[in-house]
Amino acid sequence: MVDKVLIFDTTLRDGEQSPGVALTTSDKMEIAHQLEKLGVDIIEAGFPKTSPGDFEAVQAIAREIKGSQIAGLAHANPEAVDACWDAVKVGVAPRIHVFLSSSDIHIMHQLAKDKETVLEMARAMVARAAGYCSDVEFSPMDATRSDREYVYWMLEQVIAAGATTVNIPDTVGYTTPGEFAEFITDIRNKVPNIDKARISVHCHNDLGLAVANSLAAVKAGARQVETCINGIGERAGNAALEEVVMAIKTRRDYLGVETNIKTQELYRTSRLVSDLTGMSIQPNKAIVGSNAVRHQSGIHQDGVLKMRETYEIMDAKDIGLPSGGGEIVLGKVSGRHGFKARLEELGYDLTEEELSRAFMAFKELADKKAEIDDRDLEAIVADKLRTMEEVYRLDFVQVACGDHAQPTATVRLVAPDGSIKADAALGTGPVDAVYRAINRIVQVDNELTEFHVKSVTEGIDAQGEVTIRVEGNGRSYVGRGADTDIIVASAKAYMNALNRMLSVEKRQDAEVRTSP
Ligand code: KIV
Ligand code: ZN
Repeated sequence: MVDKVLIFDTTLRDGEQSPGVALTTSDKMEIAHQLEKLGVDIIEAGFPKTSPGDFEAVQAIAREIKGSQIAGLAHANPEAVDACWDAVKVGVAPRIHVFLSSSDIHIMHQLAKDKETVLEMARAMVARAAGYCSDVEFSPMDATRSDREYVYWMLEQVIAAGATTVNIPDTVGYTTPGEFAEFITDIRNKVPNIDKARISVHCHNDLGLAVANSLAAVKAGARQVETCINGIGERAGNAALEEVVMAIKTRRDYLGVETNIKTQELYRTSRLVSDLTGMSIQPNKAIVGSNAVRHQSGIHQDGVLKMRETYEIMDAKDIGLPSGGGEIVLGKVSGRHGFKARLEELGYDLTEEELSRAFMAFKELADKKAEIDDRDLEAIVADKLRTMEEVYRLDFVQVACGDHAQPTATVRLVAPDGSIKADAALGTGPVDAVYRAINRIVQVDNELTEFHVKSVTEGIDAQGEVTIRVEGNGRSYVGRGADTDIIVASAKAYMNALNRMLSVEKRQDAEVRTSP
């Protein structure tokens, strides 16, 4: 039988540590459901001791997700371990992940302790976690810059105390594939009780080697890899799940292992994480980038047309990539039945209400755009699902602008109580005017810090997709909107970001009112 490599996804914990990323509990829940669908073995849902919001999200995910194990991260102190257990214990197969630094530089300058004390803290906190839970992971942070003998000793102690997985983090992305493989081999040879635990690796991408280091470790015997979707995470990010998984699948001949990941869900998962975090995917990104399976040069196109494998090592269908612009799937005369069937083929499972909203948007788009392909359908579904959580709803937007005109916008919103609010404003450009008019109605303090627009498909009638980031009440909120009119798409993106901000504020108010 082929050995399995478990995929431990930390998008919701290390991924959320990406600068500028702040996910709401409902974003996290949506990602967790998609990770479950993807077949992730263990989802690290957060760091329960760090904030009430994180605790609540980890607990809600542990309660709801049944197809993946849910892990929480904990510092090596009793309060953090206890909080972690309280959050994950409602899950079907909870895991407590304890970490503590092992490198001299961290021990001396950050922890300001001696090595014996640190060793004892690690042992004691793993024992405490093991008293609660049969599945305990331990990570010696900054392992790749640590004294190796000390790491072996620490691993031996924590395994004896009950750790069932020992994770070797390359915390600052310092190691190289050959060196890391040798380290894993040495751990297997030098830690006497290593057969009682699974070896895991957690690689950061500071030198662009996170995936290569993870694969080298797998070749050397690691049987769990920690990843983030799209490679997001602290600084330069973590090993990208989609790259690790597709490398294992494509090079099974060399690596000799497999994962439980349903690779057809990779593209959808990547897109969702990009949508909710506001971190866009560069076109040349391996596996999920928009150019990843496009061929430009004549000789490549010629080869692929004759036989796909001449220049393609993976099939786009295995990644779940939507069909490109060449294939027209639906048009103006398509009915609800065909629309629903195509969405189902693409893997969407919508409720009747969601389907009705998406179908209306499809009909509106079909009036403006002759050829609607899978990328348009994805944009429609993402847009309609986003607008399901509205506090304020955009009812109407109109602008007047030009090189001899002062940009002016009129907007009409439906307020939470159902009343209609309209206002108008001048701006330096049409988008500025729209945002000012919306601000006059919604009245929440915020600052726009990012604005990106890209086209969903080719052609002059393509939909524009706008992604923005606004900062307010100490957090950052992403908003997205799609439309054939980029001013309307910009208005939708702004409403999406403001609605997120308003729901977080509402939740925080409720937390303050109910706290003792
Ligand atoms: O990078 C790191 O060392 C971590 C640990 C908490 C595993 O994220
Ligand atoms: Zn990390």
